[in-house]
Amino acid sequence: MTTRTLRIAMNGITGRMGYRQHLVRSVLPIRDAGGFLLEDGTRVQVEPILVGRREGAVREIAERHGVEHWTTDVDSVMNDPSVDIYFDAQLTSLRKATLTAAMKAGKHVYTEKPTAESLEEAVELARLGQETGVTAGVVHDKLYLPGLVKLRRLVDQGFFGRILSLRGEFGYWVFEGDVQPAQRPSWNYRKEDGGGMVVDMFCHWNYVLEGILGKVDAVTAKAVTHIPTRWDEQGKEYTATADDAAYGIFEVTTPDGDPVVAQINSSWAVRVFRDELVEFQVDGTRGSAVAGLRNCVAQERAHTPKPVWNPDLPVTEPFRDQWLEVPNNADLDNGFKLQWEEFLRDVVAGRPHRYGLLSAARGVQLAELGLQSSAEGRRLEIPELTL
Ligand SMILES: NC(=O)c1ccc[n+]([C@@H]2O[C@H](COP(=O)([O-])OP(=O)(O)OC[C@H]3O[C@@H](n4cnc5c(N)ncnc54)[C@H](O)[C@@H]3O)[C@@H](O)[C@H]2O)c1
Repeated sequence: MTTRTLRIAMNGITGRMGYRQHLVRSVLPIRDAGGFLLEDGTRVQVEPILVGRREGAVREIAERHGVEHWTTDVDSVMNDPSVDIYFDAQLTSLRKATLTAAMKAGKHVYTEKPTAESLEEAVELARLGQETGVTAGVVHDKLYLPGLVKLRRLVDQGFFGRILSLRGEFGYWVFEGDVQPAQRPSWNYRKEDGGGMVVDMFCHWNYVLEGILGKVDAVTAKAVTHIPTRWDEQGKEYTATADDAAYGIFEVTTPDGDPVVAQINSSWAVRVFRDELVEFQVDGTRGSAVAGLRNCVAQERAHTPKPVWNPDLPVTEPFRDQWLEVPNNADLDNGFKLQWEEFLRDVVAGRPHRYGLLSAARGVQLAELGLQSSAEGRRLEIPELTL
């Protein structure tokens, strides 16, 4: 049996996403399981090389997880021909430069979203990906979540009939940082550091809408900074210059040519009265479904109750009980890990990853147009992106 070991330089692993989701929940479990098998019997193993600016922090993580190789010198991994893949989960504002260097050095790249701070830069990255021919993957984690996998399964089975609308509710209260520390990094609330709800979440919503329903044709958005003052990691007061909530309407066309109206509220200034931190409801002529990160419930036409509007009477229908759980029917592992494995299979096969830099550029495009729509107070059509 042959083993192919992929050496992966991982930058940004001291951060929230880089550490928890990518290192601890994805790459290390793959390593510790001895890799995984391809159909032809080849075993694919991974060897992470931790990269970061702060020597102490990187060394500590390496020691904690038994990772032999680490460095504070990004250039050294770029120049090392034995490194196959460069992974990036740094601050968004640093990504364009490092991904460019990695692709020019012939590395395959896997990266957090958004890929760049502007559409122009995101498209440049996608072009470079095409020119260099490396396998490039961008995190599209929401599509690998059990809840959305089940939702997509319902779409594929024609459960909904003609799909009419999607409504999404995302968010939770992010503490301001004065009386209780904030649970998200302060740069998220500073525009000048690449922060903001629209920039952060519209790239997710683009691939979620594309992956579940179809192409996004137009956007109308209102971005707001509800909480203007926050306190950073050092307890220092700062002005929140970025939007912390975005209310968007996305016009989508399904592959059958049906128009779907999708509305998604995204907020870090909302208290949760939901079962999950994100929920999407899809309504169609023959059925509806509500999916969260993990669960998905559905209701068919024949099981749909017939409420009559009468504010004088108390509600008699147990509405929530009238939905049926959609079963997993598969081993739905951590979404980040599943996408990592798929990406690694693509690297070994020398083929493109299905969620690459062009898809990511469409996400950046939606964020950019969302912000423009909000600033100008108007609906904007989304031009098709080509390389
Ligand atoms: N896929 C998702 O659901 C998801 C969720 C949150 C964030 N993200 C993305 O992941 C990336 C990282 O976000 P995060 O929440 O982990 O952020 P974080 O602040 O926790 O981590 C940032 C990382 O970048 C490093 N870094 C490099 N140079 C830096 C500098 N000059 N200042 C500060 N940090 C520096 C930090 O050391 C750290 O490793 C962002 O691009 C973000 O958009 C994705």
